[in-house]
Amino acid sequence: GAPIDVDLSPIADGQIVNVFWRGKLIFVRHLTEKEVADMKAANPSSMIDPAPFLGRVKAGHERWLVTYGNCTHLGCVPIANANGHEGWGCPCHGSQFDAVGRVTRGPAPINLPIPPYAFQGDTKVRIG
Ligand code: FES
Repeated sequence: GAPIDVDLSPIADGQIVNVFWRGKLIFVRHLTEKEVADMKAANPSSMIDPAPFLGRVKAGHERWLVTYGNCTHLGCVPIANANGHEGWGCPCHGSQFDAVGRVTRGPAPINLPIPPYAFQGDTKVRIG
């Protein structure tokens, strides 16, 4: 499939936008400063699928997460910020993901995968 461009300028602080690329759901999340601080502070060694913060976002664009939007257990769509949780909760079997898509509670075995993407300046990402 062809790459798609996403204009980031209308996406507010804390907002998550759903886009589709190659028929797959992708979340584009504008992380708040608090979310960035919390995600940097999380200790990878205690994670189910350990990943450092900068393995989840691009250096220089740390306020933006681009991730596939289907649970890595059986593919349901996790709900953002459910019950005050700073991340996503899967409605199917209870998996949880943090604000940069790292799994914090199973049965999901791995983090939400990150599609290929690149910034085109500060206000546009090209996915694909
Ligand atoms: Fe998400 Fe099973 S599909 S926990």
